[in-house]
Amino acid sequence: MAKPKPISLSTFFCLSFFLLTLSASLTFSRPTKQTNSYLLTNFLNCFTQHTTNSSDIVYFQTNPSFSTVLNDYIRNARFNKTTIQKPLIIITAKTPSHVQSTVICSKSINLQIKIRSGGHDNEGISYVSNQSPFIVLDMFNLRTINVDIEREQAYIQAGATIGELYYRIYEKSKVHGFPASVCPTVGVGGHVSGGGYGTMLRKYGLATDNIIDAEIVDVNGRILNRKSMGEDVFWAIRGGGGASFGVILSYTVQLVSVPEIVTVFRIGKTLEENATDLVVQWQQVAPTTDERLFMRLYLQPITSNTSKTLSASVVAVFLGGADEVVEILGKEFPLLGLKKEDCLELSWINSVLWYYNDQSIKSGAKPEILLDRNVNSAIYGKRKSDYVQKAIPKDSLELIWKKMIELGNISFAFNPYGGKMAEIASDATPFPHRAGNLFKVQYYVNWMDGTEASETNYLTQSRSLYSFMTPYVSSNPRSAFLNYRDLDIGINRFGKNSYQEGQVYGYKYFKNNFDRLVKIKTTVDPENFFRNEQSIPVLPRKP
Ligand SMILES: Cc1cc2nc3c(=O)[nH]c(=O)nc-3n(C[C@H](O)[C@H](O)[C@H](O)COP(=O)(O)OP(=O)(O)OC[C@H]3O[C@@H](n4cnc5c(N)ncnc54)[C@H](O)[C@@H]3O)c2cc1C
Ligand SMILES: *[C@@H]1O[C@H](CO)[C@@H](O)[C@H](O)[C@H]1NC(C)=O
Ligand SMILES: *[C@@H]1O[C@H](CO)[C@@H](O)[C@H](O)[C@H]1NC(C)=O
Ligand SMILES: *[C@@H]1O[C@H](CO)[C@@H](O)[C@H](O)[C@H]1NC(C)=O
Ligand SMILES: *[C@@H]1O[C@H](CO)[C@@H](O)[C@H](O)[C@H]1NC(C)=O
Ligand SMILES: *[C@@H]1O[C@H](CO)[C@@H](O)[C@H](O)[C@H]1NC(C)=O
Repeated sequence: MAKPKPISLSTFFCLSFFLLTLSASLTFSRPTKQTNSYLLTNFLNCFTQHTTNSSDIVYFQTNPSFSTVLNDYIRNARFNKTTIQKPLIIITAKTPSHVQSTVICSKSINLQIKIRSGGHDNEGISYVSNQSPFIVLDMFNLRTINVDIEREQAYIQAGATIGELYYRIYEKSKVHGFPASVCPTVGVGGHVSGGGYGTMLRKYGLATDNIIDAEIVDVNGRILNRKSMGEDVFWAIRGGGGASFGVILSYTVQLVSVPEIVTVFRIGKTLEENATDLVVQWQQVAPTTDERLFMRLYLQPITSNTSKTLSASVVAVFLGGADEVVEILGKEFPLLGLKKEDCLELSWINSVLWYYNDQSIKSGAKPEILLDRNVNSAIYGKRKSDYVQKAIPKDSLELIWKKMIELGNISFAFNPYGGKMAEIASDATPFPHRAGNLFKVQYYVNWMDGTEASETNYLTQSRSLYSFMTPYVSSNPRSAFLNYRDLDIGINRFGKNSYQEGQVYGYKYFKNNFDRLVKIKTTVDPENFFRNEQSIPVLPRKP
């Protein structure tokens, strides 16, 4: 990451002075600029009053480093275009007090705040907005991690990545881990508050299920912990999305134990190799088998020897040795045909590397790659989600394959539930998708060229397959996973229908937990200061 150039305090004052002058002479012809310069000046006046040293953390659009700072945590090239509205200001907070000042000063001029930790939001809503102007509060500097092995706990600031957390645990213990993302570059702030999951979810539930304390900055700029925020807000920020309730500063989490040796494998089959029967059996086994075993299923349309087909790959992590998993699956999943030679026995931390990139172990990658933040890969992507509660019959699977092959690119990742996921009550956290769900469906497509035609093609494919899947997935509401943000399922424009608009996506993400989230939101942020395209709305005022 290029080190951004600081903007000095004297530059602030020059700039605001300049803008003031400019606006005075353009009052009638440039109303937007005038508003923006008014906001900038007021924000800065407020911010410098509340902050002893604000150099190095405030970036205006005119700052030469503005684009670098903004781009550093853009993880989906779709939202990296020059045509997309940029924030008026970026604050790269270095201390909790900077976060407090940002909230207080944005609120004083009712400037919308977008909070960004790892920037992995699928729709870019941590740094793009349908309201303008807005400010980005960037949390990447707040990334302290303290691991306390004796108490089996870790304190993690929101701007840390999950990979950094895994690494800091690994430095202190080879038999502890944390059940979070399979992708190490996701940020703690968004991932954990949105109900993050990874390969240990059938054994230990979600990241969200393993939190024991948190610190937030609330709408009044106060720092609160579990005790002072109260159990309602503490409940809400464990799956309801942080961005509706405040700024998450940190989570304190319970570590979990992992064996010294875990087993990983990947087995793929095409339709010609009876992939359909494999999927039929996978649906029975993956959500019911030993809870130490996570078998994700990828389904992709491919071209093999010039003919189009579909590939089904099982990519798995077992918290135990190879002999044991071969024996279990020999009985339960004979169509997989798992042999010991297909398995790799690794330390838990190496299983993280393997899952991230299965070639990495062969090429000698070390756990230190988990600390790499410089992953600006410029890939375009779209994700959607669904839940399956009744196994999809073989003839229906065949129809789905036909549709996928016809469309050409849109693929699936099925994530099996069951185990611990089915034991946790559906209202224990805002994340409602517990007992009764066999697996979650992720729709995914990635592409490399930035043309309008490509984007239209891939978005159309994903919507077409989503529509095709209607008979096979949950309904009333058709559920979705908050961390797989999808603006197709509803969007808020904060007008007088804000609550109705909120219900559209709210019940999909949270089912009946939505009502409790709305009540909490209305109590702690009645003015709806913390808002975004899919935030929790406040109850409409009684006329
Ligand atoms: C490549 C990739 C792999 C992924 N793999 C997984 C996976 O294995 N498991 C899984 O569960 N999910 C996964 N996700 C989804 C991921 O968990 C979500 O996108 C998550 O929200 C990312 O968090 P972030 O901090 O990186 O994102 P950001 O874009 O920074 O934030 C996402 C949302 O959270 C809000 N937010 C961020 N920080 C804070 C904060 N400090 N306080 C309050 N609100 C905040 C933002 O405003 C935004 O609404 C993956 C995503 C990608 C792109
Ligand atoms: C303010 O912070 C900058 C960058 O962190 C530092 O270089 C500078 O010395 C600080 N100034 C004061 C007065 O503390
Ligand atoms: C696929 O299944 C058929 C019918 O059960 C069987 O005859 C055939 O050998 C299988 N093919 C493969 C590659 O396993
Ligand atoms: C496809 O190619 C592979 C390897 O080149 C070959 O083993 C296989 O028989 C071919 N399959 C078909 C259907 O032609
Ligand atoms: C965003 O654009 C910048 C500048 O063109 C580029 O360097 C960067 O790789 C891009 N990032 C993504 C994720 O597209
Ligand atoms: C989409 O599918 C078509 C047809 O199979 C293929 O030519 C193209 O390369 C695919 N695009 C991507 C991004 O995979």
